[in-house]
Amino acid sequence: MSWRDQFAKPSGAMGWIAGQLMAMKNGHRSTWVFSLLDLKPTDRVLEIGFGPGSDIAHASRAAAFVAGVDHSDVMVRMASGRNAQAINEGKVELKLGSAAQLPYPENHFDRVYAINAAQFWKDSVKTLTEVGRVLKPGGWVVLAVQPRSKNATEETSRQAGIGLSKSLASAGFEDVHTEMHQMPPVPTVCVLGRRAGKM
Ligand SMILES: C[S@@+](CC[C@H](N)C(=O)[O-])C[C@H]1O[C@@H](n2cnc3c(N)ncnc32)[C@H](O)[C@@H]1O
Repeated sequence: MSWRDQFAKPSGAMGWIAGQLMAMKNGHRSTWVFSLLDLKPTDRVLEIGFGPGSDIAHASRAAAFVAGVDHSDVMVRMASGRNAQAINEGKVELKLGSAAQLPYPENHFDRVYAINAAQFWKDSVKTLTEVGRVLKPGGWVVLAVQPRSKNATEETSRQAGIGLSKSLASAGFEDVHTEMHQMPPVPTVCVLGRRAGKM
């Protein structure tokens, strides 16, 4: 299994190391994504592809309830350890599952976000349609990608943003727009979309 595969679906001992590397990531990136997510103390929020769970911890300090879904059992264990207290308090719930089939009812969340996970989704329009199902009408999805391949450039980030914007529009999201933020080694792109209807 290549390192790229380990970031797409961490498994075994290598997956555990990949998770530790993710946890050492740029905190500045998370701070910027959370400024766009604009969580309110009453919000119910879902993170897809939470990896080591550092951003779950961040979200749980700002929102009423944080759910997470990741298809790696290694990451569910790592993130559950990191968020043990919030899980015991019923503030955080982490599940093994796929973005393509979210284990939650419709109209359940005010916000859904994914950081460096959406680029791995096989059928992004279908997956984002599933995200729209669990979002409340008027709720926002925020997808952040900082390309980490060896030859990635600012243009790689821009293209990732264009691809996700098209997928969000095809999945029926409204007010789709893109933000870019300079940070080393390449900019992070964030694509936001609102589920049709009013909160
Ligand atoms: C590169 S890691 C990023 C982890 C974390 N968001 C971060 O920024 O550190 C991608 C994560 O998304 C998860 N993932 C990728 N595709 C997924 C899918 N279709 N459904 C659920 N989880 C997925 C992987 O298991 C992995 O934990």
